[in-house]
Amino acid sequence: MNFYILTLFPEMIEQGLNTSIIGRALDKGLLSLKTVDIRDFSENKHKRVDDYPYGGGAGMVMAPGPVYRAYQFIENQISSAKKAYEDLETTDIIKKSRVIYLTPQGNIFHQSMAEELAKEEDLIFLCGHYEGIDERVLEMIVTDNVSIGDYVLTGGELPAMVMIDAIARFVPGVLNNDVSAEFESLQDNLLEYPQYTRPEVFMEKPVPEVLLSGHHSKIEEWRKEQSILRTAGNRPDLLEKAELTVKEKKFLSNTLNKQRNES
Ligand code: 6GU
Repeated sequence: MNFYILTLFPEMIEQGLNTSIIGRALDKGLLSLKTVDIRDFSENKHKRVDDYPYGGGAGMVMAPGPVYRAYQFIENQISSAKKAYEDLETTDIIKKSRVIYLTPQGNIFHQSMAEELAKEEDLIFLCGHYEGIDERVLEMIVTDNVSIGDYVLTGGELPAMVMIDAIARFVPGVLNNDVSAEFESLQDNLLEYPQYTRPEVFMEKPVPEVLLSGHHSKIEEWRKEQSILRTAGNRPDLLEKAELTVKEKKFLSNTLNKQRNES
């Protein structure tokens, strides 16, 4: 899968994504990452990419020209790579890649969106700065407007990195464990259970006994119960969407009643 990022801060993306699991997947060639510096497409002698907003108001707006030319550069690269690889005729029409604009005005990013986007071969991310980007170029090139949550950041780079990390986990081979990302928490609307490793006792706190029992079905049951309790405590909105068995529902209401009586 190929990620292309249009940004004023390419080094931020490159340094942010070249370590750990994503870094290894890049080394293995499972993923590729190409940043394009929008400033390189300024035709201004001072390399300016922003200007005053028409109608007045605070801050600066990113001009449409450099963004459009940076996009064209990437789109040309993608289509010539495809033509070479897929042995297509120069006249063949190539499907345009999705272009994701990172903006607090977008749809909220979610695990199911990550899974869907992971099916694409190429994705283009457009990172804005200042007070935003001239609306006309957005109308011309953007296919998806995405926000990563209800808070305001200074630019689209961190959101792009967040999205790329979450999407890359769905690309086959990126996670080396045998449980693939599809079967993880959130898919079933439950949070993960707590994990423990050695030592068996840490500062007088022991590991829950069931985990030392070697009794696999008991361990499984305990973990599921912990997931349910955590979700009830931290994310009651998720729990409403989770499918619990009659036994699990009983366990939950009994535990919550017990907790109420104790407090
Ligand atoms: Cl995508 N961009 C900015 N600037 N702020 C955000 C965001 C995006 N998502 C949440 N806050």
